[in-house]
Parts: sequence; structure tokens; C-alpha cells
Amino acid sequence: MKGTSIFICIEGLDGCGKTTQARLLVRRLIKMGYDAVYTAEPSRGKIGNFIRKYCLHGGKRMSVVVEALLFAADRFEHVKDVILPALDEGSIVVSDRYVYSSMAYQGAAGLDLKWIEMINEHAIRPNLAIFIDVEPHTVIKRLKSKKSVMENLETQLKVRDVYMKFVGKGALIRIDGNKSKKEVADAILKAVMKLLREKA
Ligand SMILES: Nc1ncnc2c1ncn2[C@@H]1O[C@H](COP(=O)(O)OP(=O)(O)OP(=O)(O)O)[C@@H](O)[C@H]1O
Ligand SMILES: [Mg+2]
Repeated sequence: MKGTSIFICIEGLDGCGKTTQARLLVRRLIKMGYDAVYTAEPSRGKIGNFIRKYCLHGGKRMSVVVEALLFAADRFEHVKDVILPALDEGSIVVSDRYVYSSMAYQGAAGLDLKWIEMINEHAIRPNLAIFIDVEPHTVIKRLKSKKSVMENLETQLKVRDVYMKFVGKGALIRIDGNKSKKEVADAILKAVMKLLREKA
């Protein structure tokens, strides 16, 4: 089903199940006859690759200001090169992380949320932004094999606080991520179907 241009982002702590759920959602939507595409941040573009190499797994953490600027730059390209073209073709775009990740991670690291918002002003607004909420202790357990510099418990708690701020404002929809993969997927699909009905 072409012509259903909708932009959805999936947010949450490291290991909460974003990739699992974003991919499941795309698969389910395609099965239902929609055109749906999966994409993720950091993107597969030049800046995204740079971030993966030097910010996420590079050992010592870069200055948080540089980090925020790099993520915003990558997002600009991601929107221009991937998200907008797919929406123009009438697809449902599901992004595994988006602007709220910058708010949550660089915000948790001490940056002013208003400034992060400002440098991301070119990032188009998603039609639906989902926060998969999982106990920080649980994600730490899930993650023990693939640690990055952003993944210790104290950080995760701070990051969750920022996400919950946006849930409080109604910008993010909270989905209970402590349940089984299928239950989480069902809850996400329910929110998406509601949006699709409203759009129709
Ligand atoms: N609801 C769930 N219950 C139990 N385990 C889960 C659930 N959802 C995902 N997992 C498992 O947790 C791990 C992390 O999941 P996933 O990679 O989807 O998380 P993520 O949010 O994309 O992580 P990252 O931020 O590191 O990319 C995987 O091993 C996955 O199989
Ligand atoms: Mg992932």
C-alpha cells in the first residue's frame, strides 16, 4: 500500500529492544500490505560511520558538545538522504533512534535541552515517537556482552529521566518494554494502527 507517508521513531535505553521492535514493526506492516522501511541512527552515511567509529566504540568519550553536533549533522543527512525520499515515495518510515536520543543522551551528559533542540531544528517532526521503557537494571543485564561508553547504570538512569520528561509532555508515547517481545510488538502496532486510522 503506497501513499501512507508516516514517520515513526523508536526510542529507549541501550538494549531496550529498539532494533528488535523496529524490525518487527516493519515486517508486520509489510505483511499487512503497507510499504514500510527500516532505518536507524547513527545513519549509514559518512558522519554516521564516523560516529560509530569514534564516538560509540572509541574508548574515551569525546566532548559531549562535539558528540551532540555530530549526531545533529548525521541526522540532517539522514533526513535529507533517507527519511524524506522514503516518505516522498509514500512509505512508512521506522527509525531506530532519532532526535530524542540526542536529547536523552547528550542531555543526560549535561547539555541544555534547548540548545540540543536548536541544533536539531532541521530534523522533521515524527508522526509517532515511541519510548520503549525497560528497567535500567534489566537493560544492563541484557547488554553485558556489547558495552559502549554510554551504557553504565548511572547513565541509563539519567537518560531514562530525560526520556520520561518527553513522555510527560506527550511528545513520546511510553510502551512497557519489560514484557515479552511479542507483547511489546503488539502494543507498538496498536499505537501505529491508531495513527493510521486517524490519517485515513
Ligand atoms: N521484550 C524483550 N524481552 C527480553 N529480551 C529482549 C526483549 N526485547 C529484546 N530483547 C533482547 O535484548 C537484547 C537487546 O535488544 P535490541 O538489540 O533489540 O535492543 P536495542 O534497543 O536495539 O539495543 P541498542 O541500543 O544496543 O541498539 C537482544 O538480545 C534482544 O533479543
Ligand atoms: Mg539496536
